[in-house]
Amino acid sequence: MLTAREYHDRTSYDRRRMEPHRLNWADQPARYKTYPGAAVLPLPQVADDSDESLWEVAAGRARPAAGPLGLQQVARILARSCTLTARRRFSGGTFDYRSVASAGALYPTELYLAASAVESLAAGVYHFGLERRCLTPLRVGPVAAATGVESGPRPALSFFVSVIFYRSAWKYRQRALRYVLLDAGHLLENLLLALKACGLNGHLSYDFDDRQVAGLLGLDLECEVPLAVVVVAAPAAAPAPDEEAPGPLAVDLPAAGQVAAREVAYDLIGRAYRSGNGVYPAGAADPKQVLKLGVQTTQTHGIPTVSAGKEELSLSQALRQRRSRRNFAAERLARHPFEHLLDLVCRAAPLDRPAEPRYGAAVAIGALVGNVDGYPPGFYLLSPDDRRLARVSSGELTTAMAAACLDQMWLAAAAVHFLFMVNLSALDACWGARGYRYAMLGAGRIGQRLYLGATALGLGCCGIGALYDDEARRLLGLSADAGLLYLVAVGSVRGR
Ligand SMILES: Cc1cc2nc3c(=O)[nH]c(=O)nc-3n(C[C@H](O)[C@H](O)[C@H](O)COP(=O)(O)O)c2cc1C
Repeated sequence: MLTAREYHDRTSYDRRRMEPHRLNWADQPARYKTYPGAAVLPLPQVADDSDESLWEVAAGRARPAAGPLGLQQVARILARSCTLTARRRFSGGTFDYRSVASAGALYPTELYLAASAVESLAAGVYHFGLERRCLTPLRVGPVAAATGVESGPRPALSFFVSVIFYRSAWKYRQRALRYVLLDAGHLLENLLLALKACGLNGHLSYDFDDRQVAGLLGLDLECEVPLAVVVVAAPAAAPAPDEEAPGPLAVDLPAAGQVAAREVAYDLIGRAYRSGNGVYPAGAADPKQVLKLGVQTTQTHGIPTVSAGKEELSLSQALRQRRSRRNFAAERLARHPFEHLLDLVCRAAPLDRPAEPRYGAAVAIGALVGNVDGYPPGFYLLSPDDRRLARVSSGELTTAMAAACLDQMWLAAAAVHFLFMVNLSALDACWGARGYRYAMLGAGRIGQRLYLGATALGLGCCGIGALYDDEARRLLGLSADAGLLYLVAVGSVRGR
């Protein structure tokens, strides 16, 4: 067994003990999962030129969908969840960027769906092929009862987000579990927003029987693991599905999870994953403790609900234009965009508040303000439920934080660093090692929301997972059992 705290501590970076690592290009992981010889189903073309506002969608006020679920709608949800957005050419070929951010552009995530009641799509389990925009049928037959989630609505359609460890471990080695969880959160947020934009309510679960889901999707749990299930409920009036078992899996599908000829299995990743590989009931400890960072707050600001500006991009434009931008201009950020971003983080629709509150509340959110109009520089904590921002300490800390982020000094010019923190000991006490997933997936989700919000407002944004962990913790004054999990820098950028 390995607790969340042990895994986090043992994969911390320390500037005095960094091990040099050369990438093994001969075993560079394949970026796309393929199923050689399998028939594929092309997805219909969908033009996404809708003008919905990200803020409206995030608040769950999008127009409701008309009619039953169809293949066109599934194609739109998938396109909004993840799509190729930009192509870079280099001497050895091309590289495609995506609408989701990913640490090191390694893209460990995969997306699957199980259809029970979708017009023009036979019931069964499918893998989403991003590069070719197609579905690969993995099983045909009834799947409604096979999502691995014990409670929740009867599904018409379920989505599964998984990660392939080696894609990230190739570069980040033992630390890669952190990145794959954050990356999965980024993709999940796009998926949840896509569902909301279609007027669909998704029931999110991080708690399911991993083996059952892996069996359903044909995953080899040594290489690829499921992290989230999102169920779209069947209408109450729909006939109940028969109890037949799903059809058989094509024989060698688990091998498709292998992405390089010689993969290295990192023991801390395997142990940390297996330690959280169970369903943990709530109630072992008070969930509020996971937000206790050992800091005191003083002055608080209320967060206004901000109305959209004329220049703001729509959600679909922001998805297409989202990129990581590092050329921050050392400029003061106006109050309106900062509060607009805080408002976006606070907009939690019922989708984010499932029966179990753990997913929304497993990570503390802060802001290191460097240069924002009306907000003196300092460290602040955000309380999304009561829409308040409370000051922890005063003073300019973004330069020191840039140094704590592996000396990525361009971060010092960003107006604000959003921070995702947790009390790791409390996380373990509350939910066991699986709690690490809740905190990291939550941080990734809000990170993606910030990327989209910043893009919509014409600002630059970049997620940062590279930290000298203890240095960052001490800089913020967090207690020894707390840690900074992720940072997302936002500010004006040059040349826009
Ligand atoms: C979890 C996570 C951690 C990241 N860490 C860093 C980082 O430490 N430094 C950095 O420059 N970019 C970082 N990035 C940004 C990625 O490098 C970037 O998303 C990737 O190269 C793809 O480019 P794009 O975001 O422009 O599409 C991170 C992104 C994510 C999602």
